[in-house]
Amino acid sequence: MQNAPLRIGIVGSGFAGKFHHKNLRGLPAVTVGVTSPRAASREAFAAEIGVRAYASVDEMLPDIDVLDICSPPSSHATYIHKAAAAGKHVIVEKPFHGFFGSPELHSKEEMLAAVTEELREIRRVVSENKILLGYAENIVYAPAVQREREILETSKAQILRMTAEESHSGSHSPVYGIWSEQGGGSLIGKGCHPLGGVLYLKRKEGLARNGSPIRPVAVSCRTHSITRLPHFEDRGYLRTTYKDTEDYALLHVIFEDGTVADVMTSELVLGGVYDFIEVFANNHRTRCHIQPVGVVDLYSPDRKEFAGMDLMEKISSNEGWIPAYPEFGWSNGQFYEMRDFVLSMREGRQPECDLDVAIDTTLAIYAGYLSADRRGAEVQVPRI
Ligand SMILES: NC(=O)c1ccc[n+]([C@@H]2O[C@H](COP(=O)([O-])OP(=O)(O)OC[C@H]3O[C@@H](n4cnc5c(N)ncnc54)[C@H](O)[C@@H]3O)[C@@H](O)[C@H]2O)c1
Repeated sequence: MQNAPLRIGIVGSGFAGKFHHKNLRGLPAVTVGVTSPRAASREAFAAEIGVRAYASVDEMLPDIDVLDICSPPSSHATYIHKAAAAGKHVIVEKPFHGFFGSPELHSKEEMLAAVTEELREIRRVVSENKILLGYAENIVYAPAVQREREILETSKAQILRMTAEESHSGSHSPVYGIWSEQGGGSLIGKGCHPLGGVLYLKRKEGLARNGSPIRPVAVSCRTHSITRLPHFEDRGYLRTTYKDTEDYALLHVIFEDGTVADVMTSELVLGGVYDFIEVFANNHRTRCHIQPVGVVDLYSPDRKEFAGMDLMEKISSNEGWIPAYPEFGWSNGQFYEMRDFVLSMREGRQPECDLDVAIDTTLAIYAGYLSADRRGAEVQVPRI
Protein backbone atom coordinates (compact mmCIF):
# COMPACT_ATOMS: atom_id res chain seq x y z
CA MET A 1 0.00 0.00 0.00
CA GLN A 2 1.30 3.45 -0.86
CA ASN A 3 1.75 5.97 1.96
CA ALA A 4 1.15 9.20 0.07
CA PRO A 5 -2.48 10.28 -0.19
CA LEU A 6 -4.29 9.16 -3.31
CA ARG A 7 -4.43 12.07 -5.77
CA ILE A 8 -7.94 12.58 -7.15
CA GLY A 9 -8.89 14.68 -10.17
CA ILE A 10 -12.58 15.54 -10.52
CA VAL A 11 -14.33 15.96 -13.87
CA GLY A 12 -17.42 18.15 -13.50
CA SER A 13 -17.76 21.08 -11.14
CA GLY A 14 -21.43 20.60 -10.28
CA PHE A 15 -23.47 18.93 -7.57
CA ALA A 16 -21.85 15.47 -7.67
CA GLY A 17 -18.30 16.85 -7.94
CA LYS A 18 -18.92 18.85 -4.78
CA PHE A 19 -20.21 16.00 -2.65
CA HIS A 20 -17.47 13.63 -3.89
CA HIS A 21 -14.85 16.13 -2.78
CA LYS A 22 -16.57 16.74 0.55
CA ASN A 23 -16.77 13.02 1.29
CA LEU A 24 -12.99 12.62 1.02
CA ARG A 25 -12.61 14.27 4.42
CA GLY A 26 -10.62 12.14 6.85
CA LEU A 27 -9.51 9.76 4.10
CA PRO A 28 -5.96 9.17 2.82
CA ALA A 29 -6.79 11.04 -0.39
CA VAL A 30 -6.69 14.57 -1.67
CA THR A 31 -8.46 16.39 -4.50
CA VAL A 32 -5.67 17.89 -6.60
CA GLY A 33 -7.71 19.41 -9.38
CA VAL A 34 -10.96 19.83 -11.23
CA THR A 35 -11.92 20.27 -14.85
CA SER A 36 -15.15 21.09 -16.66
CA PRO A 37 -15.88 22.79 -19.99
CA ARG A 38 -16.71 26.28 -18.71
CA ALA A 39 -13.64 28.12 -17.37
CA ALA A 40 -15.71 30.26 -14.99
CA SER A 41 -17.35 27.29 -13.31
CA ARG A 42 -14.20 25.14 -12.97
CA GLU A 43 -12.24 28.12 -11.65
CA ALA A 44 -14.95 28.98 -9.11
CA PHE A 45 -15.07 25.34 -7.93
CA ALA A 46 -11.25 25.16 -7.77
CA ALA A 47 -11.04 28.41 -5.79
CA GLU A 48 -13.77 27.25 -3.41
CA ILE A 49 -11.94 24.07 -2.43
CA GLY A 50 -8.38 25.33 -2.94
CA VAL A 51 -7.24 23.16 -5.86
CA ARG A 52 -6.02 23.72 -9.41
CA ALA A 53 -8.45 24.21 -12.31
CA TYR A 54 -7.35 22.26 -15.37
CA ALA A 55 -8.47 23.11 -18.90
CA SER A 56 -9.03 19.45 -19.79
CA VAL A 57 -8.91 15.86 -18.55
CA ASP A 58 -5.82 15.29 -20.71
CA GLU A 59 -4.01 18.09 -18.91
CA MET A 60 -5.06 16.77 -15.48
CA LEU A 61 -4.29 13.05 -15.97
CA PRO A 62 -0.48 13.21 -15.44
CA ASP A 63 -1.00 14.77 -11.97
CA ILE A 64 -3.48 12.27 -10.55
CA ASP A 65 -3.91 8.63 -9.50
CA VAL A 66 -7.70 8.52 -9.88
CA LEU A 67 -10.06 10.23 -12.32
CA ASP A 68 -13.35 10.92 -10.52
CA ILE A 69 -15.99 11.31 -13.26
CA CYS A 70 -18.84 13.55 -12.05
CA SER A 71 -19.84 14.93 -15.44
CA PRO A 72 -23.06 14.17 -17.38
CA PRO A 73 -23.61 10.52 -18.34
CA SER A 74 -22.96 11.02 -22.07
CA SER A 75 -19.33 11.90 -21.25
CA HIS A 76 -18.57 8.97 -18.89
CA ALA A 77 -17.33 6.42 -21.46
CA THR A 78 -14.93 8.86 -23.15
CA TYR A 79 -13.29 9.69 -19.82
CA ILE A 80 -13.09 6.05 -18.72
CA HIS A 81 -11.19 5.31 -21.94
CA LYS A 82 -8.82 8.26 -21.40
CA ALA A 83 -8.11 7.31 -17.78
CA ALA A 84 -7.60 3.64 -18.61
CA ALA A 85 -5.19 4.48 -21.43
CA ALA A 86 -3.19 6.56 -18.95
CA GLY A 87 -3.25 3.74 -16.38
CA LYS A 88 -5.30 5.76 -13.88
CA HIS A 89 -8.05 4.31 -11.68
CA VAL A 90 -11.58 5.53 -12.21
CA ILE A 91 -14.55 6.50 -10.06
CA VAL A 92 -17.65 7.08 -12.15
CA GLU A 93 -21.05 8.43 -11.21
CA LYS A 94 -24.38 6.85 -12.11
CA PRO A 95 -25.84 6.22 -14.62
CA PHE A 96 -22.72 4.43 -15.75
CA HIS A 97 -23.31 4.60 -19.49
CA GLY A 98 -26.15 4.76 -22.00
CA PHE A 99 -27.29 5.39 -25.54
CA PHE A 100 -27.29 9.10 -26.28
CA GLY A 101 -29.30 9.52 -29.47
CA SER A 102 -32.88 10.40 -30.30
CA PRO A 103 -35.42 7.61 -29.65
CA GLU A 104 -37.17 8.79 -32.80
CA LEU A 105 -34.15 7.93 -34.91
CA HIS A 106 -32.87 4.82 -33.14
CA SER A 107 -34.69 1.62 -32.25
CA LYS A 108 -34.41 0.07 -28.79
CA GLU A 109 -32.78 -3.01 -30.37
CA GLU A 110 -30.11 -0.70 -31.79
CA MET A 111 -29.65 0.97 -28.41
CA LEU A 112 -29.23 -2.33 -26.54
CA ALA A 113 -26.79 -3.64 -29.15
CA ALA A 114 -24.69 -0.46 -29.14
CA VAL A 115 -24.55 -0.21 -25.34
CA THR A 116 -23.63 -3.90 -25.05
CA GLU A 117 -20.74 -3.42 -27.48
CA GLU A 118 -19.50 -0.28 -25.72
CA LEU A 119 -19.64 -1.97 -22.31
CA ARG A 120 -17.66 -4.90 -23.71
CA GLU A 121 -15.04 -2.42 -24.86
CA ILE A 122 -14.94 -0.69 -21.47
CA ARG A 123 -14.45 -4.08 -19.77
CA ARG A 124 -11.59 -4.81 -22.17
CA VAL A 125 -9.71 -1.54 -21.56
CA VAL A 126 -10.21 -1.70 -17.79
CA SER A 127 -8.85 -5.24 -17.71
CA GLU A 128 -5.98 -4.72 -20.18
CA ASN A 129 -4.75 -1.56 -18.45
CA LYS A 130 -5.11 -3.20 -15.02
CA ILE A 131 -6.99 -0.27 -13.51
CA LEU A 132 -9.65 -0.40 -10.81
CA LEU A 133 -13.09 1.05 -11.44
CA GLY A 134 -15.45 2.16 -8.69
CA TYR A 135 -19.04 2.59 -9.80
CA ALA A 136 -20.53 5.29 -7.57
CA GLU A 137 -23.87 3.58 -6.99
CA ASN A 138 -24.36 5.05 -3.55
CA ILE A 139 -27.25 2.73 -2.58
CA VAL A 140 -24.80 -0.16 -2.42
CA TYR A 141 -23.09 1.73 0.41
CA ALA A 142 -26.27 2.73 2.27
CA PRO A 143 -25.94 1.54 5.88
CA ALA A 144 -29.23 -0.39 5.56
CA VAL A 145 -28.04 -2.21 2.42
CA GLN A 146 -24.67 -3.04 3.97
CA ARG A 147 -26.51 -4.42 7.00
CA GLU A 148 -28.56 -6.62 4.68
CA ARG A 149 -25.37 -7.80 2.95
CA GLU A 150 -24.00 -8.85 6.32
CA ILE A 151 -27.27 -10.67 7.17
CA LEU A 152 -27.14 -12.52 3.84
CA GLU A 153 -23.51 -13.51 4.20
CA THR A 154 -23.80 -14.58 7.83
CA SER A 155 -27.01 -16.58 7.56
CA LYS A 156 -26.42 -17.83 3.98
CA ALA A 157 -29.97 -16.69 3.21
CA GLN A 158 -31.70 -17.14 -0.12
CA ILE A 159 -33.49 -14.05 -1.45
CA LEU A 160 -36.80 -15.08 -3.04
CA ARG A 161 -38.05 -11.68 -4.12
CA MET A 162 -37.25 -8.01 -3.68
CA THR A 163 -39.16 -4.79 -4.22
CA ALA A 164 -37.32 -1.50 -4.54
CA GLU A 165 -38.01 2.07 -5.55
CA GLU A 166 -36.44 5.44 -6.02
CA SER A 167 -38.76 8.29 -6.89
CA HIS A 168 -39.20 11.98 -6.29
CA SER A 169 -40.86 15.02 -7.85
CA GLY A 170 -38.33 15.56 -10.67
CA SER A 171 -34.65 16.25 -11.28
CA HIS A 172 -33.14 19.74 -10.97
CA SER A 173 -31.13 19.41 -14.18
CA PRO A 174 -32.37 21.45 -17.17
CA VAL A 175 -31.32 18.64 -19.55
CA TYR A 176 -33.16 15.88 -17.67
CA GLY A 177 -36.02 14.53 -19.79
CA ILE A 178 -34.00 14.68 -23.02
CA TRP A 179 -33.02 11.18 -24.14
CA SER A 180 -30.00 12.26 -26.18
CA GLU A 181 -28.53 13.92 -23.05
CA GLN A 182 -29.49 11.38 -20.38
CA GLY A 183 -29.78 8.07 -22.26
CA GLY A 184 -33.43 7.68 -21.19
CA GLY A 185 -35.78 8.83 -18.46
CA SER A 186 -36.74 7.69 -14.97
CA LEU A 187 -35.54 4.11 -15.48
CA ILE A 188 -31.96 5.11 -16.14
CA GLY A 189 -31.85 8.38 -14.17
CA LYS A 190 -33.40 7.16 -10.93
CA GLY A 191 -34.21 3.48 -11.39
CA CYS A 192 -30.50 2.72 -11.73
CA HIS A 193 -30.20 3.29 -7.95
CA PRO A 194 -32.61 0.63 -6.59
CA LEU A 195 -31.76 -1.64 -9.53
CA GLY A 196 -28.04 -1.43 -8.70
CA GLY A 197 -28.89 -2.22 -5.08
CA VAL A 198 -30.94 -5.35 -5.82
CA LEU A 199 -28.41 -6.65 -8.36
CA TYR A 200 -25.64 -6.11 -5.80
CA LEU A 201 -27.50 -8.00 -3.06
CA LYS A 202 -28.23 -10.97 -5.32
CA ARG A 203 -24.55 -11.06 -6.35
CA LYS A 204 -23.57 -11.13 -2.69
CA GLU A 205 -26.05 -13.90 -1.92
CA GLY A 206 -24.57 -16.05 -4.69
CA LEU A 207 -21.00 -15.41 -3.59
CA ALA A 208 -21.87 -16.31 0.02
CA ARG A 209 -23.81 -19.47 -0.81
CA ASN A 210 -22.10 -20.88 -3.91
CA GLY A 211 -18.97 -18.81 -4.51
CA SER A 212 -20.31 -17.13 -7.65
CA PRO A 213 -22.60 -14.13 -8.15
CA ILE A 214 -26.25 -14.64 -9.13
CA ARG A 215 -26.85 -12.52 -12.22
CA PRO A 216 -29.98 -11.10 -13.92
CA VAL A 217 -31.00 -13.10 -16.99
CA ALA A 218 -34.20 -11.47 -18.22
CA VAL A 219 -36.45 -8.46 -17.64
CA SER A 220 -39.98 -7.29 -18.40
CA CYS A 221 -40.63 -3.58 -18.29
CA ARG A 222 -43.33 -0.97 -18.72
CA THR A 223 -42.68 2.75 -19.06
CA HIS A 224 -45.20 5.60 -19.05
CA SER A 225 -45.29 9.36 -19.49
CA ILE A 226 -47.90 10.32 -16.94
CA THR A 227 -47.23 14.08 -16.89
CA ARG A 228 -47.71 14.18 -20.68
CA LEU A 229 -51.17 12.57 -20.52
CA PRO A 230 -53.82 14.91 -21.97
CA HIS A 231 -55.85 14.70 -18.75
CA PHE A 232 -52.97 15.25 -16.33
CA GLU A 233 -53.92 18.19 -14.09
CA ASP A 234 -50.79 20.12 -13.26
CA ARG A 235 -50.98 21.75 -9.82
CA GLY A 236 -47.38 22.94 -10.15
CA TYR A 237 -45.74 20.61 -7.63
CA LEU A 238 -44.25 18.06 -10.03
CA ARG A 239 -41.75 18.73 -12.78
CA THR A 240 -43.39 18.25 -16.17
CA THR A 241 -40.81 19.19 -18.80
CA TYR A 242 -39.99 15.74 -20.18
CA LYS A 243 -39.30 15.93 -23.90
CA ASP A 244 -38.98 12.34 -25.07
CA THR A 245 -38.48 10.25 -21.92
CA GLU A 246 -40.70 8.35 -19.49
CA ASP A 247 -41.57 9.68 -16.04
CA TYR A 248 -42.58 6.26 -14.65
CA ALA A 249 -41.08 2.78 -15.06
CA LEU A 250 -41.62 -0.68 -13.60
CA LEU A 251 -38.87 -3.24 -14.21
CA HIS A 252 -39.38 -6.92 -13.35
CA VAL A 253 -36.01 -8.69 -13.07
CA ILE A 254 -35.59 -12.47 -13.28
CA PHE A 255 -32.34 -13.85 -11.88
CA GLU A 256 -30.56 -16.96 -13.08
CA ASP A 257 -31.88 -18.96 -10.10
CA GLY A 258 -35.47 -18.05 -11.05
CA THR A 259 -35.99 -15.58 -8.18
CA VAL A 260 -37.22 -12.04 -8.90
CA ALA A 261 -37.02 -8.34 -8.11
CA ASP A 262 -39.48 -5.55 -8.96
CA VAL A 263 -38.04 -2.06 -9.32
CA MET A 264 -40.25 1.02 -9.52
CA THR A 265 -39.17 4.54 -10.28
CA SER A 266 -40.88 7.79 -11.15
CA GLU A 267 -40.92 11.57 -11.11
CA LEU A 268 -44.41 11.55 -9.62
CA VAL A 269 -43.77 11.38 -5.87
CA LEU A 270 -44.19 14.35 -3.54
CA GLY A 271 -42.72 14.54 -0.02
CA GLY A 272 -39.00 14.23 -0.73
CA VAL A 273 -36.88 11.39 -2.07
CA TYR A 274 -38.61 8.02 -1.61
CA ASP A 275 -36.08 5.28 -1.71
CA PHE A 276 -36.10 1.72 -0.32
CA ILE A 277 -35.23 -1.92 -0.93
CA GLU A 278 -37.31 -4.64 0.70
CA VAL A 279 -35.89 -8.15 0.81
CA PHE A 280 -38.07 -11.25 1.21
CA ALA A 281 -35.75 -14.17 1.95
CA ASN A 282 -36.19 -17.78 3.04
CA ASN A 283 -35.11 -16.94 6.60
CA HIS A 284 -35.76 -13.21 7.06
CA ARG A 285 -37.41 -10.10 5.69
CA THR A 286 -35.67 -6.72 5.71
CA ARG A 287 -36.90 -3.25 4.89
CA CYS A 288 -33.85 -1.22 3.92
CA HIS A 289 -34.87 2.41 4.36
CA ILE A 290 -32.67 4.63 2.26
CA GLN A 291 -34.66 7.88 2.36
CA PRO A 292 -36.48 8.97 4.48
CA VAL A 293 -35.01 7.15 7.45
CA GLY A 294 -36.82 8.69 10.44
CA VAL A 295 -33.67 9.28 12.48
CA VAL A 296 -34.33 12.99 12.97
CA ASP A 297 -37.92 14.31 12.98
CA LEU A 298 -37.63 18.09 12.91
CA TYR A 299 -40.62 20.38 13.45
CA SER A 300 -40.32 23.75 11.74
CA PRO A 301 -43.09 26.23 12.57
CA ASP A 302 -42.32 28.49 9.62
CA ARG A 303 -40.40 27.91 6.40
CA LYS A 304 -38.31 31.05 6.95
CA GLU A 305 -36.65 29.42 10.01
CA PHE A 306 -34.69 26.97 7.86
CA ALA A 307 -34.81 28.62 4.45
CA GLY A 308 -32.08 27.29 2.20
CA MET A 309 -30.99 24.65 4.71
CA ASP A 310 -30.49 21.18 3.27
CA LEU A 311 -32.77 19.14 5.58
CA MET A 312 -34.15 16.58 3.15
CA GLU A 313 -33.61 16.13 -0.57
CA LYS A 314 -36.51 17.21 -2.82
CA ILE A 315 -38.86 18.28 -0.03
CA SER A 316 -40.91 21.24 -1.27
CA SER A 317 -40.69 23.45 1.80
CA ASN A 318 -38.90 23.44 5.14
CA GLU A 319 -42.11 23.73 7.16
CA GLY A 320 -44.05 21.38 9.45
CA TRP A 321 -42.67 17.98 10.46
CA ILE A 322 -39.60 17.10 8.38
CA PRO A 323 -37.88 13.70 8.36
CA ALA A 324 -34.51 15.44 8.17
CA TYR A 325 -31.41 13.45 7.38
CA PRO A 326 -28.85 13.39 10.18
CA GLU A 327 -26.14 14.29 7.67
CA PHE A 328 -26.26 14.76 3.90
CA GLY A 329 -25.42 11.47 2.18
CA TRP A 330 -25.41 9.32 5.33
CA SER A 331 -28.48 7.12 4.82
CA ASN A 332 -28.13 6.91 1.04
CA GLY A 333 -24.51 5.76 1.12
CA GLN A 334 -22.88 8.75 -0.57
CA PHE A 335 -20.93 9.33 2.60
CA TYR A 336 -19.40 5.82 2.54
CA GLU A 337 -18.76 5.16 -1.16
CA MET A 338 -15.69 7.40 -1.36
CA ARG A 339 -14.17 5.63 1.64
CA ASP A 340 -14.38 2.26 -0.11
CA PHE A 341 -13.06 3.67 -3.39
CA VAL A 342 -10.07 5.34 -1.75
CA LEU A 343 -9.16 2.37 0.44
CA SER A 344 -9.65 -0.25 -2.28
CA MET A 345 -7.57 1.72 -4.77
CA ARG A 346 -4.76 2.20 -2.24
CA GLU A 347 -4.87 -1.51 -1.38
CA GLY A 348 -5.19 -2.63 -5.03
CA ARG A 349 -8.43 -4.58 -4.46
CA GLN A 350 -11.77 -4.41 -6.25
CA PRO A 351 -14.24 -1.90 -4.74
CA GLU A 352 -17.48 -3.24 -3.29
CA CYS A 353 -19.42 -1.57 -6.13
CA ASP A 354 -17.42 -2.39 -9.21
CA LEU A 355 -17.57 -2.65 -12.99
CA ASP A 356 -19.67 -5.85 -12.81
CA VAL A 357 -22.50 -4.06 -10.96
CA ALA A 358 -22.22 -1.14 -13.40
CA ILE A 359 -22.41 -3.40 -16.45
CA ASP A 360 -25.30 -5.57 -15.21
CA THR A 361 -27.28 -2.46 -14.19
CA THR A 362 -26.79 -0.82 -17.59
CA LEU A 363 -27.64 -3.95 -19.56
CA ALA A 364 -30.78 -4.60 -17.47
CA ILE A 365 -31.91 -1.01 -18.12
CA TYR A 366 -31.52 -1.21 -21.91
CA ALA A 367 -33.04 -4.72 -22.03
CA GLY A 368 -35.85 -3.03 -20.05
CA TYR A 369 -36.28 -0.28 -22.63
CA LEU A 370 -36.52 -2.91 -25.36
CA SER A 371 -39.10 -4.82 -23.31
CA ALA A 372 -41.13 -1.63 -22.75
CA ASP A 373 -41.08 -1.04 -26.50
CA ARG A 374 -42.64 -4.51 -26.82
CA ARG A 375 -45.24 -3.66 -24.14
CA GLY A 376 -43.64 -5.73 -21.41
CA ALA A 377 -42.50 -8.84 -23.31
CA GLU A 378 -39.59 -10.68 -21.68
CA VAL A 379 -36.14 -9.69 -22.98
CA GLN A 380 -32.87 -11.49 -22.19
CA VAL A 381 -30.18 -9.45 -20.44
CA PRO A 382 -27.04 -9.82 -22.60
CA ARG A 383 -23.92 -11.41 -21.11
CA ILE A 384 -20.57 -9.87 -21.92
N1 LIG B 1 -25.36 9.48 -6.86
C1 LIG B 1 -26.21 10.48 -6.82
O1 LIG B 1 -27.09 10.54 -5.98
C2 LIG B 1 -26.06 11.59 -7.82
C3 LIG B 1 -26.60 12.85 -7.54
C4 LIG B 1 -26.45 13.84 -8.50
C5 LIG B 1 -25.81 13.59 -9.68
N2 LIG B 1 -25.32 12.35 -9.93
C6 LIG B 1 -24.64 12.06 -11.21
O2 LIG B 1 -23.47 12.85 -11.31
C7 LIG B 1 -23.26 13.26 -12.65
C8 LIG B 1 -23.25 14.80 -12.70
O3 LIG B 1 -24.48 15.30 -12.20
P1 LIG B 1 -24.58 16.71 -11.44
O4 LIG B 1 -25.88 16.70 -10.72
O5 LIG B 1 -23.33 16.98 -10.69
O6 LIG B 1 -24.70 17.69 -12.67
P2 LIG B 1 -24.37 19.26 -12.68
O7 LIG B 1 -25.10 19.78 -13.86
O8 LIG B 1 -24.60 19.86 -11.34
O9 LIG B 1 -22.80 19.28 -12.96
C9 LIG B 1 -22.23 18.71 -14.12
C10 LIG B 1 -20.85 19.29 -14.34
O10 LIG B 1 -20.25 18.61 -15.47
C11 LIG B 1 -19.76 19.61 -16.40
N3 LIG B 1 -19.79 19.07 -17.75
C12 LIG B 1 -20.78 19.11 -18.66
N4 LIG B 1 -20.41 18.47 -19.79
C13 LIG B 1 -19.16 18.00 -19.58
C14 LIG B 1 -18.25 17.26 -20.36
N5 LIG B 1 -18.54 16.82 -21.58
N6 LIG B 1 -17.04 17.00 -19.81
C15 LIG B 1 -16.71 17.40 -18.58
N7 LIG B 1 -17.55 18.08 -17.78
C16 LIG B 1 -18.77 18.37 -18.28
C17 LIG B 1 -20.68 20.79 -16.21
O11 LIG B 1 -20.05 21.97 -16.67
C18 LIG B 1 -20.85 20.78 -14.69
O12 LIG B 1 -19.74 21.37 -14.07
C19 LIG B 1 -24.39 12.63 -13.48
O13 LIG B 1 -23.96 11.41 -14.01
C20 LIG B 1 -25.48 12.42 -12.43
O14 LIG B 1 -26.39 11.39 -12.75
C21 LIG B 1 -25.41 11.37 -9.01
